[in-house]
Amino acid sequence: MAGKKMTILDFQKYKDEGRKFSYVTGYDYTMASIINDSDVECILVGDSLGMIMLGYATTVPVTLDDVIHHAKAVVKGAPDKFIIGDMPFGSYEVSAEDAVRNAIRLVKETGVDCIKLEGGADRADTIRAIVKAGVNVMGHIGMTPQTATSFGGFKVQGGTPESARKLIEDAKILQDAGVFSIVVECVPSVVAKAMQQEVKVPILGIGAGPDVDCQVLVTQDLLGMYGDFKPKFVKQFAHIREEMIKGLNQFHAETISGEFPTPEFSFNKAVEIPSVYGPGKTE
Ligand code: KIV
Repeated sequence: MAGKKMTILDFQKYKDEGRKFSYVTGYDYTMASIINDSDVECILVGDSLGMIMLGYATTVPVTLDDVIHHAKAVVKGAPDKFIIGDMPFGSYEVSAEDAVRNAIRLVKETGVDCIKLEGGADRADTIRAIVKAGVNVMGHIGMTPQTATSFGGFKVQGGTPESARKLIEDAKILQDAGVFSIVVECVPSVVAKAMQQEVKVPILGIGAGPDVDCQVLVTQDLLGMYGDFKPKFVKQFAHIREEMIKGLNQFHAETISGEFPTPEFSFNKAVEIPSVYGPGKTE
């Protein structure tokens, strides 16, 4: 059931009214069109496409061209959803000028509604420059997959009083730099709750507990499609992988047995086919 497309102003309005919303990833036209028919409000063309769609071990190798390629398909498939384009590793760290150029490219070439980038206080100047150029920016702090090696892999962040306080201060700095919302990934629930209360812009949680403004999940995780691993914070709301394998096996079995295709799935027009040896001849 598709509703009215959420706007950038609705993010703050929803938070101010205490109205929760949901947000999933999308990387291709068909999945985007399915999400478009659902009640979920937002779609992220995340750099997680590197793992989910391209089979990489991390998001690090993903390029801006990869994100643009997938975002174009998602924008076509989900006209009623607010769509976020993820800035991949290497597309915003070199300089603010380079980041602005790449953010504009992502928005211009795909039609996404905003961009998202990872990082706290260190990224404030970059965010300010992108916002000044007229591009809406969503922040992303906590467990930031692009730089996960610097803190020893995919681990919960903000687990000490000092690191928890630093995360909340980072969120405030991002807010002052002009982000309209912030993704917070893999932090203790109490930290996300404090952030949600202390920060004015909406806090979008993934592995951040219940006390945030919006829940985020990777679509292939929540539908039970991705088979490599399942993070602790992922609830599988469906088991599509098994259903898909069942369907594929049924197709295979009916092909082998000759049950498929029946006339229902064939073109049954009678056609007289002339012999290759000429009229009336068979050999
Ligand atoms: O790329 C992605 O899927 C993300 C989400 C984990 C928020 O950044």
